[in-house]
Formats: sequence, C-alpha cells, structure tokens
Amino acid sequence: MTSTTDLLDRIGIEDYLARADGVILHRDDSQAADPLHKSPDGALRVGVDLGTAYLVLVVLAEDGTPLAGEWQFAQVVRDGLVVDYIGAVDLLKGMKGRVERRLGRELNLAVSGYPPGVPRIEVRATANVVMAAGMDCPNLIDEPSAANNVLRLNEGAIVDIGGGTTGIAIVRDGRIVYTADEPTGGTHFSLVIAGALGISFEEAEELKVKPTEQSRLFPVVRPVMEKVASIILRHIRVHPVEHITLVGGTSAFCGITEVIQEYTGIATSVPQRPIFITPLGMALYNHAKS
Ligand SMILES: Nc1ncnc2c1ncn2[C@@H]1O[C@H](COP(=O)(O)OP(=O)(O)OP(=O)(O)O)[C@@H](O)[C@H]1O
Ligand SMILES: [Mg+2]
Repeated sequence: MTSTTDLLDRIGIEDYLARADGVILHRDDSQAADPLHKSPDGALRVGVDLGTAYLVLVVLAEDGTPLAGEWQFAQVVRDGLVVDYIGAVDLLKGMKGRVERRLGRELNLAVSGYPPGVPRIEVRATANVVMAAGMDCPNLIDEPSAANNVLRLNEGAIVDIGGGTTGIAIVRDGRIVYTADEPTGGTHFSLVIAGALGISFEEAEELKVKPTEQSRLFPVVRPVMEKVASIILRHIRVHPVEHITLVGGTSAFCGITEVIQEYTGIATSVPQRPIFITPLGMALYNHAKS
C-alpha cells in the first residue's frame, strides 16, 4: 500500500504547505484540474477544522496530495465549543457542496478535531456538526496531534496560536505528552488594534492580515505577543524543550517568532504558511494511523 505521507515526504513541509495553500485559497486549482486527480479513484482524505475564527475543509488524495479545500471566517465555534450549531452546519454544508462540485466526487467521511482539554460532550457536538453536514465522522483527533501529523517532530513544543486560544503541546519521542490551551489568540490582536485605531473589530481583522500593514501594527500588538510568550514560558518551564514550532493563523503575524524567541530564550520557528497545518493534519489522520 502507498504510504499516505508520500507527497509530504517527497517535497518537504514548505512546498507541501504552499501546495495546500494554493488549493485551499483557490490560487492554484491546477492539481484539482489535473486529470490524474480530477476524479481520483482512491479514497479521499477529508479534514474539517471548526476553529474559533475559521472553518476549514480540506481534501487530500490517498497519497496526501492536496486536491481541494475551502475556508471561511465564521464565529460559530468558540474555543472548541459549538456556539451556533445551525450556523456551523449551514456553512459546512455550503463548503462541502462547492468542493464536491469542483472535485466531481462526494465527500462521505471526514476527520475533525478538538482543542486539548475540551469536555467530551462538546467534542461530540463537533462530530455532530460534521455529520449534520452530510459526512460520517468516526474519528476526532486532538489538534496538536493533528499538527504533528504534518510537522512530524520528535521533540519540542508545538504552539498553536489560533483565533481564540493558544495551545501548547510538548512532544517527546514523537508523541504528545502534555497539552494546555489558554484564552489568548488572534481575536485579542484584533481587539487591541480596533481599540488603538478606533475602528470596528471587522475592520481590524481585515487590516491585521495584510502583510503591508503588519509593521505599522507591530507596536500595537507586541504586548499581546508578549502575553502569548508568557503563557508559553509558564508551561515550558515545567516541561523544558529546546525548540518551539509555531502553527495557527496568528503565527503568520510578522515578527511574532522573534518576540517569542526573545521572551522565552528558546529557539523558535514558524513554517511560512502556518494556518492550515492543523486542518491538513486532521485529513492526514488515517494516513498516520495506517
Ligand atoms: N496573515 C495573518 N497574520 C496574522 N494573523 C492572521 C493571519 N491570517 C490569519 N490570521 C489570524 O489567525 C486567526 C485564525 O487562525 P486559525 O485558523 O489557526 O484559528 P482557529 O483554528 O479558527 O481558532 P482556534 O484554534 O483558536 O479555535 C484569526 O485570528 C486570524 O485573524
Ligand atoms: Mg485552531
């Protein structure tokens, strides 16, 4: 049987994330249009990440090749808890339908995830959203393990700076041995920007993600970055590591790696496109298991 992480193995994480970004952001539909993959016969690997800020649906071929995806800003889930069930189902149904039309295939099965520490009953609500959108969802994976399906670290800390929270996971011998999740994330960046510039939260969100605006916004959000760094430091004091790898959308903010490295005194890096690592790792779940 083909190893499911073939493509990631072959081209390396940066090129893999670039290809995934291309198909999820619809910058590059060439792979979906590739006759080899347009209607792939093999099983499809589907990941659904119901995040605080973004819903992400990603479809991979059996060998891990990113085929199609959708993402949407949505406030239907808060820190792993589904707060707008109907809204979440509606959005996911729409995303699924568009991806199915692009691929010419039905999506029947998906892997979703949950932030560590979320109560079991709430985790079930996540699976219920996926099922109500028309896909079976027998497997749920904790988010740091999903991220490590892509990063494949043996040792270190994976820090997921998302919309609502910062998740810290300690990896030893390739396994997650400790996790924590604390309520500071990209939403707080946007709130601080909105307050400082006298604009709405939505305007701040739009401004914040523009690379050309980030150097002028840096002094405004630096204290929030330091708050994130202080959270990380508190956990890794007890669970020492030699390296921190950042994932999650907020890790894309220019300069955050340096702030965290300086504050914690620990070597810190971020892949060039950290936002889709966790959803991709959900889709890769079956691969990692096989
Ligand atoms: N280029 C960027 N620069 C800075 N922040 C960004 C960028 N792109 C996205 N973000 C921010 O990243 C956050 C979303 O990241 P992500 O999708 O990892 O979070 P989530 O999974 O929805 O939330 P959580 O994991 O907290 O539930 C949002 O706050 C968004 O504004
Ligand atoms: Mg997330």
